[in-house]
Formats: sequence, C-alpha cells, structure tokens
Amino acid sequence: MKVSFVSGKPVTRGVAVIPVFEGSKAFGSTKDYMDAGKTQFAAAKKAAKFTGKSGQSFDIFAPAGSKVSRLHVVGAGKRESFNAEMFAAKVTAKLLFAGESTVTFHLDGFDLSPDDAARAVVGARLAGYRFNNHKTKLPKEKKPNITTIRVAHDSQAKAKKAYDNFHGPICDGVIFARDLVNEPPNVIYPKAYANRIKKLKDIGLKVEVLGEKRMETLGMHSLLGVGRGSERESQLVVMRWDGGKKGAKPAAIIGKGVTFDTGGISLKPGANMWDMKGDMGGSAAVVGAMIGIAKRKAKANVIGVVGLVENMPDGRAQLPGDVVTSMSGQTIEVLNTDAEGRLVLADALHYTNTKYKPKAMINLATLTGAIIISLGHEHAGVFSNDDGLAEQISNASDSSGERSWRLPLLPEYDKLLDTPNADMKNIGGRAAGSITAAQFLKRFVGDTAWAHIDVAGTAMKNTRPDPRETTFGTGYGVRLLNHWIAENYEG
Ligand code: BES
Ligand code: MN
Ligand code: ZN
Repeated sequence: MKVSFVSGKPVTRGVAVIPVFEGSKAFGSTKDYMDAGKTQFAAAKKAAKFTGKSGQSFDIFAPAGSKVSRLHVVGAGKRESFNAEMFAAKVTAKLLFAGESTVTFHLDGFDLSPDDAARAVVGARLAGYRFNNHKTKLPKEKKPNITTIRVAHDSQAKAKKAYDNFHGPICDGVIFARDLVNEPPNVIYPKAYANRIKKLKDIGLKVEVLGEKRMETLGMHSLLGVGRGSERESQLVVMRWDGGKKGAKPAAIIGKGVTFDTGGISLKPGANMWDMKGDMGGSAAVVGAMIGIAKRKAKANVIGVVGLVENMPDGRAQLPGDVVTSMSGQTIEVLNTDAEGRLVLADALHYTNTKYKPKAMINLATLTGAIIISLGHEHAGVFSNDDGLAEQISNASDSSGERSWRLPLLPEYDKLLDTPNADMKNIGGRAAGSITAAQFLKRFVGDTAWAHIDVAGTAMKNTRPDPRETTFGTGYGVRLLNHWIAENYEG
C-alpha cells in the first residue's frame, strides 16, 4: 500500500473517511467536501439514524461540489476511548473490496497524536493484508482494491516521522512474519527459510547460517535429534543488528522454527495437523522483529536466533526413550518426540547465551497446546526467571497492543521433569503442561535474565474477531519485541 500524510484539505479522489464522535454536532471535514454542506449531511445523518456510536456509518456518494467518489461518515464512539488504529482497521475491512483504490482518513481537527495517526496506517495495512501467493484463479471481487492510504493530520510531518521511523518498519516486519507462517511447509522448510533470511542482508542485517555439520561440532544433539527423521537439513540462523554502542551487551531474541511438526514417531492425529505449518511462528516473530529493528535503524545491539527444523517420523527418526546430550552437556530423555520445540530451543538458548552473553534473552515459541487451554487466543503466556524483565514485557505488551499474561515458575514444577534415566525428561505429565515446558527451557539459560513467550494461541489462529488479523499467521510478537527493544535498549 502506498502511504502518505496530508493536511486536512479536501482530497480529490477515492473515499474520504470522516469520523464523527458520539454526541458531537461537528461533522468534521464533510462540509469542505459538499456544496450542499450542512443540509445534505443533516438529511443523510437523519436517514441513517446516525448518532456517532462506534459501528455506525453512512455514505454520501458523489457529493455535489467535490471530486471524491464517496464520503464515508463513521461513528467514532467517545473521543476519550477512540483508538485510531482499530478505527482504521475496521473501516479498511469494510472498504477493502468497495472498488476504490484511494482511502483518505480525516484524522485532523480533534487533537489526535502524531503517533496515533501513524498507527492508523498500521491498522489499515494489517486489515488490508491478504495471503494470495498460491491462488491462480482469484476472482476479481476477492482482490483488495485499496492501494493508497492517506491520513489527514494537523501535524502531518510529525505523523509521517512517527510512521517512517517506527510504526511503518515494524508493520513491514509483521507482514513478513505473516507471510512466513502462511506459506505451506513445502515452500518454507529449513533451508528455504534460511535463504529468505539471508536476503535480509539487503537491509543491513548480518546473517550467519549454521548447517548440521557445524551444529554437530558444537554438540547440539538436542536440536539435531529433532531433525533426524527429516530429509531437510536443519539450520540455525543468527541475525545481528549492531546499531548500539560498540561493546554494549546485546539483547537477544530466539525463536522456535519447526517448519512442520508431525509429532515425529509420537505422531500427531491427522485432523488439523496442517496447522503445524505454523509451528515456526515464534521464529517468524523474531525475523519480523529484526526487520523492524533494522529498517528503523534502532540504536541498540540485537541478536536474533532461529532454530529451523522439520519434525518427521522416519527410519532414522529419534525414538521415544532416546537420550540425547545437549550442547550444555545436560542429558535429556526424549519420552515424547512431539515435545520437540523445547529440544530445539535448549540448544538455541544455550548457544546464544554462551556465545553472545546477552543482557537478556526472550524466546518465542508455539510450544504447547496447553497454553491455548489456559489463555485461548487472546494472550500469549509469559514465563520468566527475572521480575524486571517480566515487567518490561508487560509494559511492551501494553504499548504494542500485543497481549501477554505471566504464569508462574516454581521448583515444584521443575521436579516434574526428573527421570531416573537422564538429567531430565522432555515432558512433565498432564498437569501444568505449559509450565513444565517453560521449566525445561529455564534449565538452558544459566543466570541470564530470560523470558519465554508461548505463542501457540496467538501466532496462528483459525478464527479472528480482530479486524487487524486477516489470515492464519498473525505476526504476533513482532510489535511486542520492537517495543521491548525501543523501551529498554535505545537511548
Ligand atoms: N507445536 C506443538 C504445540 C502446539 C499445539 C502449537 C497446538 C499450536 C497448536 C508442540 O510441539 C507440541 O506438540 N506440544 C505438545 C507437548 C506434549 C507432547 C508434552 C502438546 O502441546 O501436546
Ligand atoms: Mn510437537
Ligand atoms: Zn511443535
């Protein structure tokens, strides 16, 4: 979508979107558009029984005296609870197939912050996102019509800056992450995925790919065990953004990138198994976050690490009961090959921690079905060994709008991983499945401040009430991570 910020002057094409607040007599820019002005507006308003309540709207087509094709007057609810991003998202969802390519949001004249004006564009872009890469017969009426978004704002330069330097690049990252999750598993497998990441050198990221040989040498048998049943070579990809002070400790973000999770020998049932193409959603958030960080030239040092593997059953696949030695030296009894994400992260976390000595690490993973039982699709689950970091994540959730909720860790839960046959087993039991998974990860992070975000319910969704979420892949985490870096590592 083409994006621009304009002054409040009437525009000359497309749809002019005009918010009207509840109980307000003012009708914003409508009068600037119409010869008939007040009279025509009042008549239309009356006919639509319009009071400005959120959800209401009416249209004036081909307003006399204006070159726009349509005025779309929208109930904006109460001024104090107006959310520009959500407003723009809802309107975009409504107008996306209306046949108009240009939409101008009149967000001038009511003291909206430049930041919120920028966020309106994000709302429009997210609501306008579709994934049609593999449709050869897309009917015309299913092709989005909107190609240009304009936002009228009283401080258009400031709004443009907020968009260009922050919200726009982050939105690019969200969309990249959505594409990765939505692509089928025969397109996004570990090597193909690594190749896509390599292309990000173009935006200034340093990218290093470790193949199976290198990982063998490093002793990453926990990660490698997961990929044993796959024809596709496992990959560990490290992205670096050195935008901060030289020598300043980096922040590290780590993602689970299981490009398909069949469960392995502990095979999953067939129904809905196709959803497991999204089992790389945590890694997609990390890649998307690094895109945001690089494109907005963040003044911080950030390491992004993703473990890319395909979990398959096969003659060579690892077996329930296998004992593997992780890079940390700790041994793991693999009682369920479907609890594979933690095996991938064990080595990715240990490697990141020992090689880059980060100030803090956050990993994201579609780790457990149990987190969907706990929190549904509205909140991601947060687990942390550090109250300060947990607080930072809570704040980043508030500022980004990506919801998360902290759950506990305790020695009593940790004990559930004990086994007579190795240092630990890779499953707890039926109880507290998301927590025992987090306890497992905690064993691989040493004393470093660390948090695990379980995004199984939020990174991929088959039903989506939020107009900004338009496809299976949501891109959850990209915004949260960018806010976390911006609020704690820049400036
Ligand atoms: N990728 C799954 C978790 C998952 C399930 C994500 C459903 C999204 C939707 C993970 O690898 C897995 O299979 N976890 C098991 C763990 C169990 C074997 C201890 C689970 O949640 O059932
Ligand atoms: Mn699994
Ligand atoms: Zn998985």
